Parts: sequence; structure tokens; C-alpha cells
Amino acid sequence: MSISDIGKAKIVYEDQEVELPLMEGTMGEKAIDISKLRATTGLVTLDNGYGNTGSCSSEITFIDGDKGVLLYRGYPIEQLAEKADFVEVCYLLIYGHLPSADELSGFRDKLTHHSLIHEDMKKFFEGYPPSAHPMAILSAMVASLSAYYPEEDGDTNIIRLLAKLNTIAAFSYKKSIGQPYIYPRNDLDYAGDFLHMMHAVPAEPYELDDTLVEALNLLLILHADHEQNCSTSTVRMVGSSGANLFASIASGICALWGPLHGGANQKVIQMLERIEKDGSDYKKYVAMAKDKDNDFRLMGFGHRVYKNFDPRARILKKSADAVLSKLGVNDPLLDIARNLEEVALNDEYFVQRKLYPNVDFYSGIIYRAMGIPTNMFTVMFALGRLPGWIAQWKEMKENPKARIYRPRQVYTGATQRDY
Ligand code: SDX
Repeated sequence: MSISDIGKAKIVYEDQEVELPLMEGTMGEKAIDISKLRATTGLVTLDNGYGNTGSCSSEITFIDGDKGVLLYRGYPIEQLAEKADFVEVCYLLIYGHLPSADELSGFRDKLTHHSLIHEDMKKFFEGYPPSAHPMAILSAMVASLSAYYPEEDGDTNIIRLLAKLNTIAAFSYKKSIGQPYIYPRNDLDYAGDFLHMMHAVPAEPYELDDTLVEALNLLLILHADHEQNCSTSTVRMVGSSGANLFASIASGICALWGPLHGGANQKVIQMLERIEKDGSDYKKYVAMAKDKDNDFRLMGFGHRVYKNFDPRARILKKSADAVLSKLGVNDPLLDIARNLEEVALNDEYFVQRKLYPNVDFYSGIIYRAMGIPTNMFTVMFALGRLPGWIAQWKEMKENPKARIYRPRQVYTGATQRDY
């Protein structure tokens, strides 16, 4: 499927009237192609935070922020969340179609047989202090995989990275709590194997709880891709220079770490805990979030694209109930989250700015109920987002027209002067 040229947009500038191609995507999005703007008028565009700038055309994910629509390769997120498992969604995003039964079992088999990391990599973990944030370890380990697999063999390195990130994440957790590493097991599927590596201890058998496996598959699917968000754009930016897959994904992990992006799920729980400690006075915090003199933000609220509900938040809000009751967990933070949402959605400040709960608002409550520590929440986001990053990197690498990312600027510094 491709982008179509549907006519012209006119820019009138000084004595010039310049026509630029008007493009349209398969879901009706329209864009002005400005690639010839500077050559014809000497002008560049300025768009703080790229809020209105398309960096590429892509066939992977579509979001309609006004309608709360999210499609992975055309399939609605609600259907994939209900019917698919995460490995199937990985295949769909990366290879572009839902796998046949044979393709899926072959893919699962490859992931199973690439899940070990080189024994020498365990030495890297020994160098970190126990307090090291797992995202620091994750990005360093992923970049270091290029030392073990220097050949730029697309598909095998894609399988290796998908299979090993689980193991690296679980090992970083075990290291942080001083427990022995639990190795991947070939008889467990992707989500079950991760939970086993996270929670099993050598001394006793670990029974996988289907509720946890189901919840993890759902969480990973909901995080799997999201168009050109900050970390995905970073992966494309770094990959556009010709950097290898591991270096590109390691940079995406660093971008995701920020509290305004993937780091928000950890900040949401810390915010809810703070409110709980403060007598659960959530109205006070809504007021603080509105106060321009206070830099407090309602973490987990707002989104650059969604100006309606984030469909992922809607699904997670529902599943939080189901997971917590199945696990017999009664978490007061869930009530505080619900009350916050209720008050904010009826408050002019949030309504006017179209601020709704995003994917990070409820995810942490489910991770908590699953026994995953708060400082691992953004790692969980990275595990989910990995197939999306890989798919976007691959799409760019396979695009013969792809160019190195090199935005322009408007200089506002000192005019030329002598030394
Ligand atoms: C993710 O891009 C993606 O798709 C990301 C993601 C993905 O799947 O990859 O969806 C994952 O990163 C979700 C977002 C997680 N971040 C948070 O929950 C952090 C809290 N939210 C915000 O900081 C903010 O809403 C952003 C970063 C998400 C969006 O920032 P924008 O689009 O740059 O919006 P903005 O900062 O310009 O805010 C617009 C207005 C401002 O007020 P005014 O200047 O108009 O008076 O809304 C206010 C902001 O002060 N505002 C908030 C707010 N978010 C925005 N006020 C209080 N609480 C908030 N959370």
C-alpha cells in the first residue's frame, strides 16, 4: 500500500506562489510534502517537538487521536488484545501479516532457542551497584549484544533481540534483589518464561498462574507499537545513520526512560503512593496539576496524539478490575486512580486541554498486582515496545528512499563577530 498524490497545496510567500504536493494515506490522513520547500522558497518549517510533522510514511500502525482508534497493520487493538497473544502480534508488526499456524510455531521455536545470553554477559551485571536502574542496564546490555553478533544479519538478529531482551530484563531484576539468575526454559512460552525467570527461586518449584500470563500478554500487546512516538522516532533517527539494530534499539530504550514517555508508568504509581500517604486527598493533587506555579503534573494523563480516550487505557482500566479480583488483590491505589480520573474528566482544565488517561495510567496497578517492582515498570514497557521498534527500524532499512535524519533549525544566536 502506498501514499497517494492527491493534488497541490499553495504557499504564498512574498511575490511567490509555490505549489507543494498534497499527499494522502490509506486511512485518509493528508499531508503537505515540503521536501522541495527550501529549494523553491529558501524557507524551512519550524515545528516545536514535531507536533505537526510527519517524519515518514509507514504501513505499521495507525492512530486516530480524535476517535481513539489504534490499528496494528489494520487490526484494531481491541481485537488483538482479546484474541491474539504477544508473540503473534510481534510477528504481525515485524513481518506485516498474521502468521499461519506453521509460521507462528516456527517463530515461537526460534525465539525459544535464542533466549540464552552469552555467559560472559553475566559479568556485565556484576559491575552494577544493586541500586542501578534496570533501564540503564537494559540499554547497555542491548548495545553490547552488537559485540557478540557483529554481523548485520537482519532476521537472526531480530529473533535474537526479541528472545534475549526477556532474559536480560529478568536477570537485571534478579541482580537487583541479590537472587540467583533463573535461566529461560524451553517448555514455557514467551510470557510464562519471563514470569518464571522473574519470580522463580532455585529452592522451590514455581507454579505459573494463568491469570498472570494472560495479563502479561495483554500488557505487552497494548504497548507493542504506537506510530512515531519519541522512542520510536529515536530508533529511526539512530538507524537512519546506518547504525546496527542493537545500537538503534538501545537508543530507543534510553528515550523511553524519560518520565514524560515510558517512564510515566513508574511515576504514576509514585504519584498514587504520594497521594495515598497524603490521606488520599486526590482533589488536592488535581488542583496542584492545574496550578501553573506548580510543576506537578498528573502523571498518566494527557497525550500528544490522543485528544479523546486512549483505547489502551480503556482496555487496561477494565482488565485492572479482572486481574486484581482474580489475584485477590485489593489495591487502594486503584480507587485513588479511579477517583482522580473521575474528577479530572469533569474538570474544565482537563476537558479544555483534552487530557485523558493514557496507557501509563492503569498499567502500573496491574504490574504491581503481578508482583513486578515499580522500578521495572518502564522495562516492561520496553519489552512490549520492542517489536514495534524492530518493525519500524526494519521498515526504514528496507525503504530504498530512506535518508539519514537531519532536521534543520532557525538560528537565534549571536550574529557573526570577530574573535
Ligand atoms: C506515552 O507518543 C506516544 O504515543 C507515547 C506513548 C506511546 O505509546 O509511545 O503513548 C506512551 O509516553 C504516554 C504519555 C506518558 N506521559 C505522561 O503521562 C506524563 C504526563 N503527561 C504529559 O507530560 C503530557 O501530557 C505529554 C508529555 C504526554 C504530552 O505533552 P504535549 O503534547 O507536549 O502537551 P503539553 O505538555 O504541551 O500540554 C498541553 C497543556 C499544557 O497546559 P497549557 O500550557 O496549555 O496551559 O496541557 C497541560 C500542559 O501544562 N498538561 C497537563 C498534563 N499534560 C499536559 N497538565 C497537567 N497534567 C498533565 N498530565
